[in-house]
Amino acid sequence: MPAHVAVIMDGNGRWAKSRALPRHAGHRSGVKSVRQTVEMAAQRGVSYLTLFAFSSENWRRPADEVGRLMGLFLEALQREVDDLHRNNVRVTFIGARELLQAELVAKISAAEQKTINNDGLRLMVAVAYGGRWDIVNAARKLAAMVAAGELSADDLNDDNFAAELALGDVPDPDLLIRTGGEQRISNFLLWNLAYAELFFSESLWPDFGQQDFDAALDFYASRQRRYGFTGDQVA
Ligand code: FPP
Repeated sequence: MPAHVAVIMDGNGRWAKSRALPRHAGHRSGVKSVRQTVEMAAQRGVSYLTLFAFSSENWRRPADEVGRLMGLFLEALQREVDDLHRNNVRVTFIGARELLQAELVAKISAAEQKTINNDGLRLMVAVAYGGRWDIVNAARKLAAMVAAGELSADDLNDDNFAAELALGDVPDPDLLIRTGGEQRISNFLLWNLAYAELFFSESLWPDFGQQDFDAALDFYASRQRRYGFTGDQVA
């Protein structure tokens, strides 16, 4: 069982288009899959779940779609936070939150505070997040520490660099699931996905359900993870 599953939730737009619906109807339907995936992850004993909800590049979409997505995040957060809390889920958001509307930032902070002591599933939602943004952000913090004399540049290593990333306090994802048929990382967790097993599902995100999730877990169970060692060494 993977301890940490990361998901690129792709295909909402195509799901809507195939039903002659506007794109935002696909995003709305995608919220159901989010809910179901959180429930399945908790049931199956996954410890960490990271969902890519809005990338640094998604700001380029039409203003109407961006506005509706932000509205949907706000609404979903408002509606789901009590249920998440009751189910012992700790929720955190990663990304450039200074770019989000004040009302959404306030709701995000409140949800994080409310659930901070929960020790069940840890749910990370990436909004206004990009893997390059994350790495540059960490580099900026480390550069400031070096400038302040708190860290020597020679002492920089994988561990103290990774600690400054958005997911610095959680283990790297073991499994990445991308729905919607595309096979790319799209600037998601560039550093953290270094050794993740990659599972690509043809299902569009609103159609992603229990069978798809279990197929991804079965795929993961069949992989031998070598981290640079030989197969014999690992066996
Ligand atoms: C990608 O599909 C999906 C998004 C950019 C938005 C994801 C958002 C949700 C699933 C809504 C709810 C999220 C939370 C955390 C409450 P796409 O629009 O790129 O689809 P396409 O490739 O078919 O156009």
